[in-house]
Amino acid sequence: MPGVHKKIVVLAGDGIGPEVTAAATQVLEDCAEAFGHRFELLPHAFGGVAIDAFGTPLPQETLSACRAADATLLGAVGGPKWEVLPLDQRPEAGLLGLRRGLGLFINLRPLRLRESLRKISPLRIERIVNCDLEIVRELAGDIYFGRHSTAMEAGVEVARDEAVYSVPEVERVARYAFQRAAQRRGHLTSIDKHNILATSVLWRKTVVAIAKKYPNVTLDHQYVDNAAMQLVLRPEQFDVILTSNMFGDILSDEAAALAGSIGLIPSMSIGETPKGALYEPIHGSAPTLAGKDAANPLGTIFSVCMMLRESFGLRAEADWIERGVDRVLDRGSRTTDIADDPKQVVPTSVFLEQLRKELSENLRPTEQHGWGV
Ligand code: IPM
Ligand code: MN
Repeated sequence: MPGVHKKIVVLAGDGIGPEVTAAATQVLEDCAEAFGHRFELLPHAFGGVAIDAFGTPLPQETLSACRAADATLLGAVGGPKWEVLPLDQRPEAGLLGLRRGLGLFINLRPLRLRESLRKISPLRIERIVNCDLEIVRELAGDIYFGRHSTAMEAGVEVARDEAVYSVPEVERVARYAFQRAAQRRGHLTSIDKHNILATSVLWRKTVVAIAKKYPNVTLDHQYVDNAAMQLVLRPEQFDVILTSNMFGDILSDEAAALAGSIGLIPSMSIGETPKGALYEPIHGSAPTLAGKDAANPLGTIFSVCMMLRESFGLRAEADWIERGVDRVLDRGSRTTDIADDPKQVVPTSVFLEQLRKELSENLRPTEQHGWGV
């Protein structure tokens, strides 16, 4: 493929965000050089640091830059410093504003246990033979975006969070999940709380109706409490999971732990078109790790790989990075969160240097043409 030119907005954010995005953008730059591409990296203020500098977690200029970009890479937002602020002024509100402002309603979180990391899953080996699933999390509705309020009622303090879904909101994310399942093992599990919640009754009815258009996909349903248990008991039963914003947030952390560490998991958020997608690791800002050169950069590096594949169609490049990561892991270099022996632990910066060395030694241009087809 001839060289491409892409504009990528980089939102480093808070906590370990700047460290993991620095590592991942370094890998992107190495990739550009190796394959003759141009990735224009455009850093912008976002999250707590933007509150400190501009008084808002999502400056208008940042949102406009993301809208104009080919893709956005985000580290993480939030931290104890901003927890005293009202909910709608916190860094997390900026993230919700960004998702909404970019029209992102699909969040895809792939969970796959890498061969070299089998030992670190909390599950017994025989339980994780085939842990390879994708969570399609609805990202623009539910209790996240309903009204939140606190009031004094008859002398007592009362808080309310409203959960809302409309049929079109469920349809658009369900279609994507069915398409995803059709391209994989053809099995979709929709997760809800249909025995209790009105939003779940609407959710299930809508998913069942959409299923008629996808006869090659087998659809089943689980209640979220059972799904949480099934993920631990028999993760191999899942191919693609479709669920609401709140349940998807919770289940994806659980599933991440099965894959070894939340530090490993990337995500992609998209709307009607893959243009202007947002890529971010699913972990948070991990304030206790920040500035210690100890964060796992892989969730963000794999997010960059997703960006290369899904937004830019650069599969050979993504494969090149992922194979390099696997070779470094195979040799036993690990950040703290994925080490099964303290002797393996290296700082983030050392892990990155080992990866870059590995990549630079495996350029073999003659083979590149055969990759990723
Ligand atoms: C995630 C995070 C966010 C969410 C927070 C930081 C707002 O936990 O992306 O999973 O709840 O969606
Ligand atoms: Mn989360």
